Amino acid sequence: MLEAHHLGKSYRLGDVEVAALADVSLAFPRGSITTVVGRSGCGKTTLLRILAGLEQPSRGELRRMDGGPSQTGVVFQEARLMPWLDTLGNVAFGLRRRVPAGIAEERSRAALETVGLSAFTDAMPSQLSGGMAQRVAIARALVTEPDLLLLDEPFAALDAFTRRAMQNELIAIWQKKHPTIVFVTHDVEEAVLLGQRVLELEGGRVVGHEPIDLPFPRDPTAAAVNDHRRRILANLTAPARDHDSRVASPAIDKEPSS
Ligand SMILES: Nc1ncnc2c1ncn2[C@@H]1O[C@H](COP(=O)(O)OP(=O)(O)O)[C@@H](O)[C@H]1O
Ligand SMILES: [Mg+2]
Repeated sequence: MLEAHHLGKSYRLGDVEVAALADVSLAFPRGSITTVVGRSGCGKTTLLRILAGLEQPSRGELRRMDGGPSQTGVVFQEARLMPWLDTLGNVAFGLRRRVPAGIAEERSRAALETVGLSAFTDAMPSQLSGGMAQRVAIARALVTEPDLLLLDEPFAALDAFTRRAMQNELIAIWQKKHPTIVFVTHDVEEAVLLGQRVLELEGGRVVGHEPIDLPFPRDPTAAAVNDHRRRILANLTAPARDHDSRVASPAIDKEPSS
C-alpha cells in the first residue's frame, strides 16, 4: 500500500548538512507489521514523519499503491493530550469535525474500551499515569479507524510491566483489524516481539532486514526471540560501514580546514 523510493532527508545546521535519512527504499505491504530499530539519532522519527506525511523528503518519493492508506493514525513518544479535555474529549477531538457528536462519542467510547480505559472516560490527563495517558493516545489514533498506524517509540517511557501489557494490547488490536503498522523503537527486544520484519536503521540507512516468522503473542524468553535479538544487535554494533558518514558534506564549499 505504501512504497518508499530512495527517500532522503537532510537538515541544514549552520554550514553543515545533516543527512537524517539516506536512500531508504522499502515497501510496506497492506496489513503488515514492520518494526524499525536503531540507536538514537539514526533517523527513525524522520522516517516515520515522512511516512505520516508530516514532513517532505528532500529526495526520493513516497508512493501510495492501490489507493494507499485512506486513514493514518500516529502515536508519538509522549501522549500529547490536551490538558483541558477529559479522556473522552481527547479521543473524540479529531472526530468531532467529521462526524456527528453522538457518533464521535460512541466511537470514542469503543476505542477507549479497546485499550482498557472504559472506567476512565471522565478522567483528566493530570489524573492519568503515563501508561494510561499513552493508552488514550492510542485510542485517539484508533478512533479514526486507521488502515495505517504509525507509532514512534510509544512505550519508551513506560515501566517494563506496563510496556509488556501495551505490547500485547497492540498485537490484539492488530489481530482484530489488521491495520498496516510501522512501529519505531530503540529497543531490540521490543522490535523482535512486535515485528513481522525488523528493519535495522543506522546513520539514516537501512542496514538490515530481519524477517520474524513467529506466532503472536511472542514470548520474550523464547530461544527463537533471543536468536533474532542477538543477530540484530550484532549487526547494529558491527564496525562502522564505509557509507556510514552521517554529516554528509558542508553545504557551502570551503577551504579544507587542515
Ligand atoms: N528539525 C531538525 N533539524 C535539524 N536536524 C534534525 C532535525 N530533526 C532531526 N534532525 C537530525 O537528524 C538525525 C535523525 O534524527 P531522528 O530522525 O530524530 O532520529 P531518531 O528518531 O532515530 O532518534 C539526528 O542527527 C537529528 O539531530
Ligand atoms: Mg526519534
